[in-house]
Amino acid sequence: MKLIIVKDAAEMSRKAAEIFAARIKKKANLVLGLATGSTPEKMYAELAKMNRRKEVDFTEVSTFNLDEYVGLRGDHDQSYRYFMNKNLFNKINIQKENTHVPDGMALDTKETCKLYELAIKGAGGVDLQLLGIGSNGHIAFNEPGSPKASRTRVVKLTKNTIKDNSRFFKKVSEVPTKALSMGNGTINEAKEIVLIANGANKAKAVKATLEGPVTEAVPASLVRDHKKITFILDEEAASLLTKKK
Ligand code: PGA
Repeated sequence: MKLIIVKDAAEMSRKAAEIFAARIKKKANLVLGLATGSTPEKMYAELAKMNRRKEVDFTEVSTFNLDEYVGLRGDHDQSYRYFMNKNLFNKINIQKENTHVPDGMALDTKETCKLYELAIKGAGGVDLQLLGIGSNGHIAFNEPGSPKASRTRVVKLTKNTIKDNSRFFKKVSEVPTKALSMGNGTINEAKEIVLIANGANKAKAVKATLEGPVTEAVPASLVRDHKKITFILDEEAASLLTKKK
């Protein structure tokens, strides 16, 4: 496990973008696992900038997103497909058919989740997975208590997550209550993981992840012992850690 503590969100974003660009330079057809939320926005802006300057080429890259709300169409401005198009895919030279986000409008969600797992396998597995962390320690929409071996499936969002995410919606009642999400087991199979977190509201979850027990009660702790994982934290998110190295 590698821990990098930086000054602020801008530096966290640059650092993470540099790692992603370096891996793509090494392997042009890299398979990325991607995350949404406010944490990766600046990192995606950095990657778009690097792509514009021709410092990184996405022509052969493919991507699999962690999750999507059930019931939101890809063109709904709060869907994760919309987020990804707006913040990254429309700004880089990636081939849209190589980008995958679970289909929140799927009628047969079970089959859709099974096919998503198969598509990841078919692509050779995720080479590099980006993760954020929820203030309750979730990764993707694997809420506290999600099994270690869980795979892509329909999950119910906790009250805490619905409240956290309501800032993006007009009313709390508009936040979907379910999502399709890669499982903890799916995520752990990535060959490399980068987890980013910034801000004081993540400090408790970060502390529990890195210094508490490895437990399904804190899903992020389940990736702590991954063979190749880097945590990039800003000073606020790292503020409660006893060991800063
Ligand atoms: P955030 O969400 O980046 O919007 O804080 C992170 C997460 O819930 O994983």
